[in-house]
Amino acid sequence: MARFIDELKRTHNCGELRLEHLGQEVVLFGWVQVRRDHGGCIFIDLRDRGGVTQVVFKPDSSPEAFALAERVRPEWVIGVRGRVLDRGAMRNPKVATGDIEVEALEACVFNKSETPPFAIEDDVETHEDKRLEFRYLDLRRPKLQRNLLIRSELNRATREYLSGNGFVEVETPFMVKYTPGGARNFLVPSRLYSGHFYALAESPQLYKQMLMIAGFDRYYQIVRCFRDEDLRIDRQPEFTQIDIEMSFINQDDLFRTVEGLVFKLFRDALGVDLRERYPDGTFPRLDFAESMAKYGNDKPDLRFGLPHTDITALTVEHDGGGIAMLEPIAARFKSGEDRLDLPKNIVKALRVPKEHTFSRKELQDLEKWVMSMGAKGLARAKVDEGGQWVQSPLAKTVTDAFRLAVNEAVGAEDGDMIFFQFGPEAKVQTVMANLRVHLAKKFGLIPETGSGGDWNFLWVVNPPLFERDEKGGWAAAHHVFTRPHDECIELLDKDPGKVLCYRYDLVLNGFEIAGGSIRLHDPDVQAKVFEVIGLSEAEAREKFGFLLDALKYGAPPHGGIAFGMDRVAMLACETESIRDVIAFPKTQRANDLLTGAPTRVAPEQLLELKLRTVE
Ligand code: AMO
Repeated sequence: MARFIDELKRTHNCGELRLEHLGQEVVLFGWVQVRRDHGGCIFIDLRDRGGVTQVVFKPDSSPEAFALAERVRPEWVIGVRGRVLDRGAMRNPKVATGDIEVEALEACVFNKSETPPFAIEDDVETHEDKRLEFRYLDLRRPKLQRNLLIRSELNRATREYLSGNGFVEVETPFMVKYTPGGARNFLVPSRLYSGHFYALAESPQLYKQMLMIAGFDRYYQIVRCFRDEDLRIDRQPEFTQIDIEMSFINQDDLFRTVEGLVFKLFRDALGVDLRERYPDGTFPRLDFAESMAKYGNDKPDLRFGLPHTDITALTVEHDGGGIAMLEPIAARFKSGEDRLDLPKNIVKALRVPKEHTFSRKELQDLEKWVMSMGAKGLARAKVDEGGQWVQSPLAKTVTDAFRLAVNEAVGAEDGDMIFFQFGPEAKVQTVMANLRVHLAKKFGLIPETGSGGDWNFLWVVNPPLFERDEKGGWAAAHHVFTRPHDECIELLDKDPGKVLCYRYDLVLNGFEIAGGSIRLHDPDVQAKVFEVIGLSEAEAREKFGFLLDALKYGAPPHGGIAFGMDRVAMLACETESIRDVIAFPKTQRANDLLTGAPTRVAPEQLLELKLRTVE
């Protein structure tokens, strides 16, 4: 072995050799992917991070190497010195190195391998739990290697772009003060102060604002964040943000910087030129209110249509016209005032153009599916000649005027189907948003992404600053340091629900990939915001006293954003699971199957921390 490595250095990786290397002597190191014994000679596909090269062992070229090839098994680590040959008629156009093969002249075994619990191949379906348990083997698969390389390139390009644009990379603490509210924190017990805890930072938010107050002007960090939330396909308990904060900027300035970053990330990591789609270098913007009205959420996928129409006002207007199914809600609307008794009810319609048809069974299944999300049913009407509604119980109950008004509002034509939902706002929005995506998938309306595919970016802007809490009071819809629009400041006293703010999300193909805001740096407006959400001065001090103090010492106007790097990587790698772009992820149940974390700890350790568990 000393000869290989010490004397024979690697000349190429296993993905590099082409016809131009014919006749050259090369040294390759790697893992045995497969071994095929063809009687007279043995073929080994040798794999490393660069790719796969076919190596042929012949008894005449080197009897020792041939004897070695007879012994090796999949996943053994070997070294080969050999000559590059043309495969001639046996060329394989599916493999990058498929025109050539390496004839072995000398070989060595660096290490044997036990038989792996699954084949190291991209198209082999193995249960994910098994793959996570043997993650170091799973990570040998070309697909995961490619994902991590793309991710590494995203990191590199981020640093290059931001440092090139005057940003300073600063590390902020992971062990921070616990603040109630917001995402649920992981706690770290303090040994020195029994009964006291640090929290793991859910984001560097307060620190990056203090860096602006300190005068750093432009900050960034590629930073791990920790949130003890219920996990979903696009969430992990520890995840990575590209965290950004800037001083002396407005929303447009920040968008320009971020758009530049995204263009660079896609160009460098994927070779995709977003200018083809966005020639002026900017992404479109959509008002939060319009997003909710048309798509039911604030992260719409605009690669397809199927918008909703909010027909709440129409329903109220036509109330009393025999709309039996809508009557219970319509009666509540009639009171006319925006009462505090929650929830607010709404009525929405979704028109499916006539080219997409449903069988009776499909309609039944759709209704069942909608009901599994908590809807009471899925009212529908098929539009017939002359705008009549058929195949619908609604046909008998609605007035002509209401029917025609709805047809007009949704733009219905002969043969279209209209689906309706009515009830509490939050539920209707969720159900209708999911229904829209479900139907788009069913009818194949979502184009493929990928090279030349559809990367659909969107800024969702101008959301309300406050939302109702369970008790009918006001709560900050995002966080309390978001700056309201200047023209809304007088509404803080009169009509808080109408106050819009400088908060924004960047959406890609229906996923929120980044979110941020222009911060509130004016102490008077800040005090008003606390008043609206009923936060006493003492409570505000208890929660963010240190930031409130800092804001008094000359805070510049500032704002920022944070990208979910894992989500960006997930979309860039065109994979459906965030775990496919994280080297060592947790499961949906927050377990690390490789190491077994979380685990119990020894009683002495708990004693040292003066902790006792209650089970
Ligand atoms: P926010 O909470 O919106 O904002 O988070 C920013 C982005 O982080 C990603 N993200 C996650 N990714 C994976 N797993 C999770 N559990 C998870 N939670 C969030 C999302 C999201 O868009 N401090 C503010 C930013 C700011 O205002 O500047 C913040 O953290 O892609």
